[in-house]
Formats: sequence, C-alpha cells, structure tokens
Amino acid sequence: MRTQVGIIGAGPAGLTLAMLLRRHGIDCVVLENRDRAYVEKRVRAGLLEQNTVDLLRKLGVADRLDREGLEHHGIYLRYRGANHYVDMTGLTGRHITIYGQQEVVKDLTQALLDRGVEVLFETGNVELHDIETDAPRITYDHAGESHELTCDVIAGCDGFHGVSRQTIKDHITEYDYTYPFGWLGILAEAAPATDELIYAWHEDGFALYTMRSTKISRLYLQVDADDDIANWSDDRIWSELSTRLGNVNEGKIFDKGITPMRSYVAEPMQRGRLFLAGDSAHIVPPTGAKGLNLAVNDVRLLAPALTDLIAKGDKRRADGYTTAALGRVWRAQDFSNYMTQMLHDLGGGPFQRRMQLARLEYVARSEAAARSLAENYVGLPAEPDF
Ligand code: APR
Ligand code: PHB
Repeated sequence: MRTQVGIIGAGPAGLTLAMLLRRHGIDCVVLENRDRAYVEKRVRAGLLEQNTVDLLRKLGVADRLDREGLEHHGIYLRYRGANHYVDMTGLTGRHITIYGQQEVVKDLTQALLDRGVEVLFETGNVELHDIETDAPRITYDHAGESHELTCDVIAGCDGFHGVSRQTIKDHITEYDYTYPFGWLGILAEAAPATDELIYAWHEDGFALYTMRSTKISRLYLQVDADDDIANWSDDRIWSELSTRLGNVNEGKIFDKGITPMRSYVAEPMQRGRLFLAGDSAHIVPPTGAKGLNLAVNDVRLLAPALTDLIAKGDKRRADGYTTAALGRVWRAQDFSNYMTQMLHDLGGGPFQRRMQLARLEYVARSEAAARSLAENYVGLPAEPDF
C-alpha cells in the first residue's frame, strides 16, 4: 500500500491533521491501535480555545460543537472561601468553549469516514522504518494480516506512550518535570452548581469545578501522586470537594480516576521524514487546559508544511516546523506551570502558601495581571492557517 502521509494515532492531533491534509488535496491513512468505541469513550479534558473552535468550524466539523458546546466568558479563582471572577471576554475579546475531547474525536472520525479517508482501528505492532529516506514505511498488523504502508512522510500523532517518539529517542533532547501530586477526576450526573469554571486554592489542596453539559459535572481534586483511587469512596470525594469548592451539586459518579501531572517537551519534533505532533512530542499539566489546543496548533502548522514538501518539493516550512510549533508549546508550558504553582499545595510550607495568596490577590485586583492570565488562558491568536 502507498499513501502520501501515514498518520499514526487517531486522537485530536492525527484526526485534525487528516482533515487538514484532505483539504490540501494530500492523501493520508490513519492507523490507530485501539478500537473505535474505546477511542470515542476515553475521558479526557474538555476546554477548547477559540483558535481550536475556529479551525474545527473551517474544517466543517463543528455543527454539533456549535449546538452542544457551552460558551464560557471567564473563570472564577476561589481562595479564602470567596470566588473572584476573571472576565476573559471583557479582558481579551475572546471566549472558550466547553466540549469533551472525545466528542471532538467522534465528530472528526465520522467526518473523515464520510469523506472516504481511511481510518484503520485496531492496528497492532506498528513500526516505523527508513524515516531518513524519502520513502519511509510503516509496518503493522490489521485484521489478522501483516501490512506495509509506504509514505512520503510519517506523522507521529500517537500520544505520549506511542511508538513514534521512541523511534527517534536517540536524536531528541527531553525536557521533563514531574509534579509530586496528581488530579483525581470524576464525572457525575449532576447539574453544575456554577455557571463557569472554578479554580480553587485551598489549605487541603487544589480543586476544579468544570462540566460537560448542563446535566453533567466534571470535578477534580489535587491528591498525592501515589494515591490510590481505592482510598476515595464517593462520600469522601464529595465531602472533600465541598470543603474546597463550597457549594457543590452531588449526583451519581459514573467515572473516576487519578492522572499524574507532568510537563514534558521533546526537541526537535522531527527527524528525516518523521514529524511528531501533539502529546507524542509534549505534555502539559491540565491546569491551563492546553493539551488538546496545543495538539491542534501543531497540526495547523504541520499540514501546510507537509503540503509544500509533498506537492511542491519545497522543504522550507517543513524544516521550520519544530521552531514554529515550539513557540506556542513553551508558552503553554510556562502558563500551565504558572497556574499549577499558583493553585496547588506544592509542599513548600506556610511561606509558599502566603506567596500564592498574594499572587491570587494580585490577579483579582490588577487588570494588568488579570489580562495576562486571560490572554494565555483563552489562547494567544493563532498564526494564520491554511
Ligand atoms: N499505534 C497506533 N496508535 C497508537 C499507538 C500505536 N503504537 N500508540 C498510541 N496510539 C494512539 C492512541 O490510542 C490514541 O488514540 O494514538 C492516539 C493519540 O491520541 P492522544 O493521546 O489523544 O494524543 P493527541 O492526539 O496528541 O491529543 C492530545 O490528548 O492526552 C490528551 O490532554 C491531551 O488533550 C490532549 C490531547
Ligand atoms: C475539563 O473540563 O476537563 C478541564 C477544564 C479545565 C482544565 C482542565 C480540565 O484546566
């Protein structure tokens, strides 16, 4: 088999890249090792920057997002028992949209299949070969048979634990920071008791009140990195949430889990004819809600770069891909780290806790400080795209 771009991974990065390439008239095949139902149900974050929504609209995959997404115009910072509103739209003219990542994945997958793009699920033993040549190959198993896909380019969109980055691990520098805590996240059948998100600083640790719809709440608690979900009964979760967040509407919990908090960047994001995008190249702690938005930004840059390379033989944008993408990646690293450090119990004792309160108070009282937070949170305007 032959295609122009072999895309590994059917997450937001791989699927959005496939949609963009198709618009540019470039063929691609998407290989995903999980089954479709698993990928479409996997619970992840759910906050889209306006940049991301605008791109999905241009791609014609935003009908359901426009119907069901919740437009938000600010966030509450909560500390010392009171909420302080940061009016993102007033400060930046931009807004954010709450819409689950798996919903984005469902919409993109269906759109690609409707347009005849091949998305192969349950592909096993994916391996990359000859990436330093002009004809890189992917070998994989599918439906009980071995296959080989020869490409012009391979896009490694296979997330943090994928194979693509491993293939070039001897050629990258890794920048890494692991936080000594995790987030316990739940989904509950409960109408959110807040109109917009609440990011809470509390003596017991950070908490976040977010949502998926007017009927489904998503809530998070800072817990120790090595804590076990078995230690957290539903009663204990609700009690800790109401201690940290104040008024919380309870309901049936239908999903719960603990996620580690980590910052990671691999540089460069390319080698020969392999280009990494999304979580395969970088991850951020979820406090700034940047993971999905960064993945989409990478492919916004990668699609035209690959099109120039393949259709015109012009390598300039492809050669500049890492530099172009990393600008936004490091900005997001810094912002996610800033939000994380301001709101979590970092274990540094009372002096550090007072410093955090001073920082929060500054955001609540100073328009300049609030605007700086807001422009990062809603996302600095994206480069003009395709
Ligand atoms: N072969 C094929 N597919 C693979 C392989 C492999 N060896 N390894 C992983 N995958 C698939 C995963 O099953 C997943 O569907 O690659 C996909 C990667 O998708 P994501 O992890 O969602 O990564 P990405 O598309 O970069 O999106 C980043 O995802 O983790 C969240 O918070 C993060 O919002 C961010 C977003
Ligand atoms: C979510 O809705 O899951 C969410 C929102 C904001 C964050 C992290 C997660 O910062």
